[in-house]
Amino acid sequence: MAVRPSVRLLNGHSMPIVGLGTWLSKIGEVGNAVRVALDAGYRHIDTAQNYYNEEEIGEALEEKVNEGKVKREDVFITTKLAMAGMAPENVKKETLLSLKRLRTDYIDLYLIHHPVSISDEGMSEEPPVRFPKYKNGALKTSFIDPLDTWREMEKLVDEGLVRAIGLSNVNKQQLQRIFEKARIKPANLQVECHAWFPQYEMAEFCEKRGIAFSAYGPIGSPGRPPVEGPATPPLMDEPALKEIASKHEKTVAQVLLRNLMQRGIIVLPKSVTPERIKSNFQVMDFELSPEEMDIIKGINKELRLFQFNYYGKQNFLHPFFPWPELAQSYQPGQGMEQL
Ligand SMILES: NC(=O)c1ccc[n+]([C@@H]2O[C@H](COP(=O)([O-])OP(=O)(O)OC[C@H]3O[C@@H](n4cnc5c(N)ncnc54)[C@H](OP(=O)(O)O)[C@@H]3O)[C@@H](O)[C@H]2O)c1
Repeated sequence: MAVRPSVRLLNGHSMPIVGLGTWLSKIGEVGNAVRVALDAGYRHIDTAQNYYNEEEIGEALEEKVNEGKVKREDVFITTKLAMAGMAPENVKKETLLSLKRLRTDYIDLYLIHHPVSISDEGMSEEPPVRFPKYKNGALKTSFIDPLDTWREMEKLVDEGLVRAIGLSNVNKQQLQRIFEKARIKPANLQVECHAWFPQYEMAEFCEKRGIAFSAYGPIGSPGRPPVEGPATPPLMDEPALKEIASKHEKTVAQVLLRNLMQRGIIVLPKSVTPERIKSNFQVMDFELSPEEMDIIKGINKELRLFQFNYYGKQNFLHPFFPWPELAQSYQPGQGMEQL
């Protein structure tokens, strides 16, 4: 099945179907990753205020623009409003800081990172404390209605600071509620999605509403810390995937990415390793057959690798926590100190 190189958003702009993920891409390495990616042909970078790396990404992008290698308008930049920045009075302030760090005067796509807001008590510190905690290690959440945050995001579009707005880590009801009440509809949903957690229902829900769907953790996020959720062997070790990859003389990562792309899903593979960055982009020159797509469908485990355990057990009861059912499998204290 042919794959288009970009997905059209509700605002009329196009979003490249492959973007460079940058979560856990550290200062000192993320700039190089962005340079390698832009040289390899990527025109889409995914970051977030919570990744603490926007500044180095901005530097690398500016450098490539100044060298004449890319134009700013040809690169699609997504960033995400920190949960600690969700109070309506903070939204614009945090956005302006992102713009400054990214050295740009507009963001292509701005997402609410997670529907559960966090206290803003450390946001004015340098660097900002975006995950303030109680003495027992639990996050200090707050109770901002994401719809109130959304109203401020809409104003950013009106002002031209942001071209498209969207959501991440919301459940279907939360997405529908914002979709119904929004003056500017969500252009994009970014959620965990890969062969073990393929999100067929959510993807269809978005497709029906014209909401572009982006997959995080598309190759199974092998580098994620235990604080996120269950430890598993790598998704990329699945024998069925290895077999398909060897048939096409491709890597398992390329097969996983192509599988999602053939479903019309935007993929955000993260790497700071130049060879991987390059190979993860070589996904337009082969095609998975319907039979191979079915084999990949067969390895689905309905397993969330991102369970947001770092919110702490009490937060599963938070009115805006998207997956309260995860409280049953919660294991306390898994790597809280790694935040
Ligand atoms: N909205 C959200 O809440 C949210 C949550 C998670 C992620 N995201 C976004 O989605 C992006 C992708 O998700 P992710 O970073 O969790 O997981 P991922 O892209 O599935 O996996 C990244 C990991 O795989 C390794 N890797 C990359 N290419 C590889 C290859 N070809 N062969 C073997 N290993 C490879 C990377 O290592 P090296 O870097 O060492 O090469 C890194 O450890 C993030 O970076 C972020 O931009 C968003």
